[in-house]
Amino acid sequence: MLIYFYWFLLFFFLIIAFISLYFTFIQLIYFYLPNRIGLAFSDSKVINLIEKIIEDYHLKNINNFIESGSGTGFVVRKMSKIGNFKKYIGVEVDWLIIFMSRIFSWLEKSKVSFIRKDIFDYKIPQNSLVYCYFTSDINTNLYKKGKFQNMVVICLTFEIERCFTDKSF
Ligand SMILES: C[S@@+](CC[C@H](N)C(=O)[O-])C[C@H]1O[C@@H](n2cnc3c(N)ncnc32)[C@H](O)[C@@H]1O
Repeated sequence: MLIYFYWFLLFFFLIIAFISLYFTFIQLIYFYLPNRIGLAFSDSKVINLIEKIIEDYHLKNINNFIESGSGTGFVVRKMSKIGNFKKYIGVEVDWLIIFMSRIFSWLEKSKVSFIRKDIFDYKIPQNSLVYCYFTSDINTNLYKKGKFQNMVVICLTFEIERCFTDKSF
């Protein structure tokens, strides 16, 4: 019986080691790739901020909530529990991270769809509220490629350079 326990421990250790090595590897790779940002996670303060923006700017008639570069899907999964949007979508480029977010979503029985795609190749549906935790360069490139047309975009921390209009706040 004890032998099974040791096998289980070894398997568990190998999984954790693989995930840690993989994350370290992609952090390094993404650092050198254009339009990629590595892992960093939003916390519940962001959820409060998004809720406040929705409230203050009367954004209740928007159909879709999109988290671009959704990571483990923390924001979009939380929003799907408290928000009134019709659809919740997470777009993430990395296969392992999206696999993890789908497992979390399945465990929570959440109604979020996760799409594995580079955000630059994804056509963001009209009438969406988009949450981005990218660098200002990526946000600026997305803006210049017209990805944010007719959307409300909430960018965490990073402003969109040279794109200030009366519609930015
Ligand atoms: C800073 S993390 C933010 C994670 C999550 N949105 C959050 O706020 O907790 C950025 C995520 O975007 C993903 N990512 C980076 N470049 C991307 C791209 N071009 N298209 C889609 N996802 C991307 C990364 O794999 C990473 O999971």
